[in-house]
Amino acid sequence: MNRFENKIALVTGSSQGIGAACALRLAADGADIILNGRKLDERGEDLIKQITAMGRRAHFLAADVSHMHNVVNLVRDAIAVYGELDILVNNAGVEKNKDFWDVTEEEYDFVMDTNLKGIFFGIQTFVKYCMSNKRGGVIINMSSVHEEIVFPHFAAYCASKGGLKMLTRNLATELAHLNIRVNNVAPGAIATPINKKLMDTPELLENVLDNIPMKKMGKPEDVAALVAFLASDDAKYVTGSTYFVDGGLTYHYEEQ
Ligand SMILES: NC(=O)c1ccc[n+]([C@@H]2O[C@H](COP(=O)([O-])OP(=O)(O)OC[C@H]3O[C@@H](n4cnc5c(N)ncnc54)[C@H](O)[C@@H]3O)[C@@H](O)[C@H]2O)c1
Repeated sequence: MNRFENKIALVTGSSQGIGAACALRLAADGADIILNGRKLDERGEDLIKQITAMGRRAHFLAADVSHMHNVVNLVRDAIAVYGELDILVNNAGVEKNKDFWDVTEEEYDFVMDTNLKGIFFGIQTFVKYCMSNKRGGVIINMSSVHEEIVFPHFAAYCASKGGLKMLTRNLATELAHLNIRVNNVAPGAIATPINKKLMDTPELLENVLDNIPMKKMGKPEDVAALVAFLASDDAKYVTGSTYFVDGGLTYHYEEQ
């Protein structure tokens, strides 16, 4: 499929996990890709090889998106690489598992600055570019089921994804007249390195699977497929909402 012919996509935090799957899927569907991570390593180099083998262009930009000046420069540099930018996937995200009463300011900032502040100013930079070039754009924010459902011991993470829920609602309304669409994708339990401890601990995993009607974790590719749909013109009338990819986790209820 070539639904992203002549489209350029930036995917933040795309060295591994969901971000890497999104980059590969958008490339498979025809987009040229700007990859991002804190630094280029063999995972990024391997992705560049995979994408170029598909006949698409790929370039890696190192930047820590939790700092405003870095994320602003990342989006500007991404535009400069191939001369334009059509799709912004704000995927980079972090979490901290800690009792609420022990969370430090540094830990709070680490989560909020990556998951919310960096996205806020990355989008702002992209929107200024779209406005000054009189062009539309597509923004997809990688949220979580935890923009909606609680996650004890992950208070900062929930606050960041809850904030992302409202940021998306607000921007979809404010930017619609500029032909800029904004949506959230909310994964449930997906098999990526962020869930290593969960996947390595059978009793934790069993507990999570009990809450998932489909009784399995999702794959990064399952999330990427939804991202590709939302980024495409098939979703041209879709903005301002959240789309769950969670095996039924969020709205799950069963009588014992
Ligand atoms: N895996 C899941 O079950 C799950 C569930 C819900 C939401 N999510 C969300 O999906 C997104 C991706 O998660 P994942 O599971 O692939 O995680 P992951 O930890 O496997 O990958 C995240 C990537 O983002 C990068 N990254 C983190 N902070 C960064 C920063 N400041 N600057 C640049 N890059 C940075 C990491 O280096 C890593 O490559 C996150 O936003 C996460 O909150 C994941």
